[in-house]
Amino acid sequence: AGGVARTGNGELAVQGIGVAELAKEFGTPLFVLDEDDFRARARGFKQAFDAAFADLCGGVDVYYAGKAFLSTEVARWVTAEGLRLDTCSGGEMAVARVAGVPAANLSLHGNNKSVDEIRTALEIDLGRIVVDSLDELERVALLARETGKRANVMLRLTPGVHASTHEFIATAHEDQKFGLSMIELGEEPSPAAAAVSYALTHPELNLLGLHAHIGSQIFEAEGFELAARKLLSFQAEIKNKHGVELPELDLGGGYGIAYTEADTPREPAVLAAAMADVVAATARELGISIPRISIEPGRAIAGTSTFTLYETGVRKTVQVQAEDGTLSPRRYVSVDGGMSDNARPVLYDADYTAVLASRVTESEPIVSRVVGKHCESGDIVVRDVYLPEDVAAGDLLAVPGTGAYCWALASNYNYLGRPAVVAVRNGAARAIIRRETEADLLARDLGA
Ligand code: LLP
Repeated sequence: AGGVARTGNGELAVQGIGVAELAKEFGTPLFVLDEDDFRARARGFKQAFDAAFADLCGGVDVYYAGKAFLSTEVARWVTAEGLRLDTCSGGEMAVARVAGVPAANLSLHGNNKSVDEIRTALEIDLGRIVVDSLDELERVALLARETGKRANVMLRLTPGVHASTHEFIATAHEDQKFGLSMIELGEEPSPAAAAVSYALTHPELNLLGLHAHIGSQIFEAEGFELAARKLLSFQAEIKNKHGVELPELDLGGGYGIAYTEADTPREPAVLAAAMADVVAATARELGISIPRISIEPGRAIAGTSTFTLYETGVRKTVQVQAEDGTLSPRRYVSVDGGMSDNARPVLYDADYTAVLASRVTESEPIVSRVVGKHCESGDIVVRDVYLPEDVAAGDLLAVPGTGAYCWALASNYNYLGRPAVVAVRNGAARAIIRRETEADLLARDLGA
């Protein structure tokens, strides 16, 4: 992140505030978030996509995907930077409302929204309910009639494009829980087509457009382009069949970030330009007007803003046998957190890196494995990283790129309290989420 650098004495610092001071004031493990970096990336997405689509549809609505990392402060930052907010539960909606985000700026996602969640969305006049299935569309219609509201809906489709970092498979990716299939079932219309007909014939539903989310941690524009083409073709079919042009099109999130040097994401401006070209050309080909485009980046805004600061504890070195029988040492370095504050290595085999943050040293870098303190051998933070040989108990380690889906996925496994999140802005640090205490952990235990 931009504001992170070594000070004169070699200590890592955020906007000039050293990690030792942060650890002393807020404890470890600690999520250290560079608020300026977060905001700059939010602003950067908005500006890049606005610029690319200005002449096509007057700009782009950027929804920050709150699932990546959300707090009331974060909701206020993205709102101040001109973004909207994508929520996917009653809890996320509650955070947004407490933060004062206008309901019109919110979208609500989820493949199994509860009646309460839908009712809340209707009651507060939430901007867009992204409907995931025919069952849900009927449920939304029923609740709209009940509450006397007209529901603003988008339809989430499965365009048969599944993209990930290193591969994307342009064959049907139907076998998943999300979205309305675009494939016809014999004589029957596709679930997507049936949903459109249903929405257009129920006046309590205000069908605003189509939506697709094709995956996460995507580097290339190709998958987004394919999805845009598919959805625009479907728009053209809707125009032919129903004589309406849906005003909006949401291309979802999924923009990748660099976790390690091996990752090479594209700049938002590059992706935006490629996507704008395809949208413009496809709409022209099909003879339809260009809908208002929206996107939902989460990771690419939050991810690189944050590093996790850990204190190191015990070390040990083992001899690892290679296939040819040769032995080589691997040193384990334990830290005071682990899979409860970063589940991504365990869940997705995700790669991170780590640096000695408290000082620089001349000592030889050796292959190290950074592990957590949980009672589980899979509790690995960084699988393989060169760390100085003299790393010792009481040093501070920083693991960068932990701003997305780390705090959000944090747990209380082994009764560890979730870490605090500290935001640094204008050279000052303040906690935006405090650390959980043992009292917090016991508060819900009715026998305590
Ligand atoms: N929109 C929808 C409908 C989504 O489902 C998601 C993420 C996003 C937007 C934001 O995607 P992003 O821009 O952050 O990639 N826990 C996993 C990632 C799960 C993503 C779920 N959906 C991980 O840590 O890699």
